[in-house]
Amino acid sequence: MTETLSSRLAVVVLAAGQGTRMKSRLPKVLHPIGGRPLVGHVLETALALEPERVVVVVRHERDLVAGAVTDAAPGVVVVDQDDVPGTGRAVEVALDALDADFPGDVLVLSGDVPLLEADTLASLLRTHRDSAVAATVLSATLDDATGYGRVIRDADGTVSRIVEQKDATEAEASVTEINAGVYVFRAPALRAHLSLVGTANAQGEKYLTDVVALLRASRLAVAASPAPDAAAALGVNDRVQLAEAARLLNARTVRRWQLEGVSIQDPATTWIDVRATLAPDVTVLPNTHILGATTIAEGATVGPDTSLIDCEIGAGATVRRVEANLAVVGDGVSVGPYTHLRPGTVLGEGVKVGSFVETKNVRVGTGTKVPHFIYLGDAEVGSHANLGAGTITANYDDVDKHRTLIGDEVHTGSHTVLVAPVRLGDGAKTGAGAVIRKDVPAGALALSVAPQRNVEGWVEKNRPGTGAADVAAKARSAQKADDGAQEEDR
Ligand code: UD1
Ligand code: CA
Repeated sequence: MTETLSSRLAVVVLAAGQGTRMKSRLPKVLHPIGGRPLVGHVLETALALEPERVVVVVRHERDLVAGAVTDAAPGVVVVDQDDVPGTGRAVEVALDALDADFPGDVLVLSGDVPLLEADTLASLLRTHRDSAVAATVLSATLDDATGYGRVIRDADGTVSRIVEQKDATEAEASVTEINAGVYVFRAPALRAHLSLVGTANAQGEKYLTDVVALLRASRLAVAASPAPDAAAALGVNDRVQLAEAARLLNARTVRRWQLEGVSIQDPATTWIDVRATLAPDVTVLPNTHILGATTIAEGATVGPDTSLIDCEIGAGATVRRVEANLAVVGDGVSVGPYTHLRPGTVLGEGVKVGSFVETKNVRVGTGTKVPHFIYLGDAEVGSHANLGAGTITANYDDVDKHRTLIGDEVHTGSHTVLVAPVRLGDGAKTGAGAVIRKDVPAGALALSVAPQRNVEGWVEKNRPGTGAADVAAKARSAQKADDGAQEEDR
């Protein structure tokens, strides 16, 4: 591959700011949208351009931010900004991580501008390289430009400088073309002019944006290239913009899956994280959150009112009104409504899990039914078993968790308590209300409840004058008359 010197590219990502307007303990660039921190989105886009180096500048909560950055993109270089504040200073320290004579282009990205796509940046780079300018600014024309730096052009349209909102005159503030906080600079020109940037402005910071006017003063040209999608230039400074960025990203993700063949009934109430994957002919019903690395196989229906975090949903499964985390749901399984699948749940093919059921760290075999009011924790259930309503694994004895093993084709009676550790052999059955403390051999019926004893007339004797006693007395005398008549018939 032939590579000319001028095609060399380094990317600088600015992530050192405090993000005061977020009013958060968490550094701004670590706030997530689509299940990934803001700076993670920026890094992903940066890496897609295959630059020879990515430098991320950190300062506020540096260890937290640096950790998240190296997790997301192990190959990047992290540099520390010193006490001099401002985006200009941030880029200045970043340049120290490049060779002093680096001859290529430096693409500067803001860690809080998460929605720009690699295509947009690639075309910005092409525009820059095709023209003989020292810098190209990505701009956007917004209806409401409040808070952004404005691109000020001369009468002939050439870019003369960028002015920050806080330093703008009324006339400058009325300009609607904004600086997206993304630029390409020729490295030598950038280096030479950054050292000239001062701090005489409303915020007392070294503004990167001041480089534009300084380049012009050196008779170097600067271009501004409008982003094709102005909304993607959104910068996140506060929680209102964070929610807006999350919404825009989600709309993009939902649309992408729709075009891949997924039916999404209500995009506005469907939230899909960027790492989730959905197969064709999946149906997503309203108010459903598909989060983390969740995967959903062909033909499955999820929702309404369902939240899946890092789950695997099998082909043709139905998962409605479910909260699930780190669960594996097999092909053709039916779960819900009102079901909680906790980490370690693995449901085999064709399993049915019904209402008010909670499962944790449990494997359930093919075709087994877990229909109503059941808790299964730390258990292994065979295939084609049927657990009666109210079956509970008592897996915790105040000290340790214990396992319950349930064989194939086991049927438990309603309200069976399985006191772990305990094992039910294949084909075993338990009576209603059984408390199972000892293993049940294969094929045995386990009963732990004493035989029923009826104390005749107890209510009339012990609760005289109550409604129950009155109706019982009536029923008993009617029964007696009936018995007498039958006696006569004989
Ligand atoms: C900046 C631009 C503004 C542009 C807007 C686009 C400047 C002076 N202004 O304003 O023209 O319209 O972005 O979104 O550049 N950062 C550092 N070190 C610092 C300060 C900031 O690394 O000392 C980082 C922040 O973490 C952030 C980015 O730089 O990721 C932008 O900083 P921010 O304070 O949000 O700048 P804006 O006021 O939005
Ligand atoms: Ca910003």
